[in-house]
Amino acid sequence: MHTPKRILVTGSAGRIGRAVVSELVARGHHVVGFDLFPTPGLPPEQSVVGSLTDAGAIREAARGANAIVHLAATADDARYPRGAAPDDGDNFLADLVPNNVVGPYQIMEAARVLKVPRVILASTGQVIDGHLRSGNMPVTADSAPRPRYLYACTKVFLEALGQVYAKEHGIEVLAVRLGWCPRAGQEEEFRASELGPDVYLSPGDAGRFFAAAVEVDKLPPFAVVYASSKYVTTPAYDLSDAKELLGWEPREKWPDGMG
Ligand SMILES: NC(=O)c1ccc[n+]([C@@H]2O[C@H](COP(=O)([O-])OP(=O)(O)OC[C@H]3O[C@@H](n4cnc5c(N)ncnc54)[C@H](O)[C@@H]3O)[C@@H](O)[C@H]2O)c1
Repeated sequence: MHTPKRILVTGSAGRIGRAVVSELVARGHHVVGFDLFPTPGLPPEQSVVGSLTDAGAIREAARGANAIVHLAATADDARYPRGAAPDDGDNFLADLVPNNVVGPYQIMEAARVLKVPRVILASTGQVIDGHLRSGNMPVTADSAPRPRYLYACTKVFLEALGQVYAKEHGIEVLAVRLGWCPRAGQEEEFRASELGPDVYLSPGDAGRFFAAAVEVDKLPPFAVVYASSKYVTTPAYDLSDAKELLGWEPREKWPDGMG
């Protein structure tokens, strides 16, 4: 049993956020949710409805936190592959910049100003998509980024941001390249994807991963790890760093928890 901590979870009403909130609450932590929508499973006084672009709202929610789990984001490109010019159907300026570039900056600033000692940042396996496509697996944490498209570029920025705040401001930052936890409406795309079962991340394994990340006594100043469920055919991600640093290993395998 771990000492209960005060944890701010952003994106707490989302697919992964709900699983993380539920696991943290079950382990006795005091969770404050922060999302554009109310957070299921939390009382109204712990469910902040606000935007990542509102620095004041984030700082209010983060006050006194022992750790921030930062999940809120625009969670993918609007369209990929994008199509021939003059197609301008991307979501970079409208969504990715405010939510995935300005948002993480506001989170790291809140942590710096309020002296929050630990931040866990949700990155994605899409930052090393090129390695997966070329069969260069299992991909390790020190593999050079080979982003899939614009969403993945914002996550490369997120990781770099975490690294400089760790170096300059003494915050423990863990960036986690998450596997694929299909959201409502993605089931068909997932089933059509050859890699899907090997990069799958079940909600249960995700919840336990983030709980381990907030509970472990000590983390290096900055680290990148992968989190996915057990592979089905080929190991896509090297999960050894997550085991070594957090004592976390996946328990499930696709289709466990698909719902
Ligand atoms: N689900 C996956 O397969 C997957 C894979 C890799 C990485 N990720 C990352 O994990 C995190 C969570 O993903 P998810 O699948 O739960 O996504 P999701 O879309 O279900 O949840 C994201 C949540 O963030 C909130 N949000 C978005 N913009 C916000 C803003 N400006 N202010 C406050 N809240 C805002 C949304 O309302 C939503 O509830 C994201 O950072 C995503 O990029 C997800």
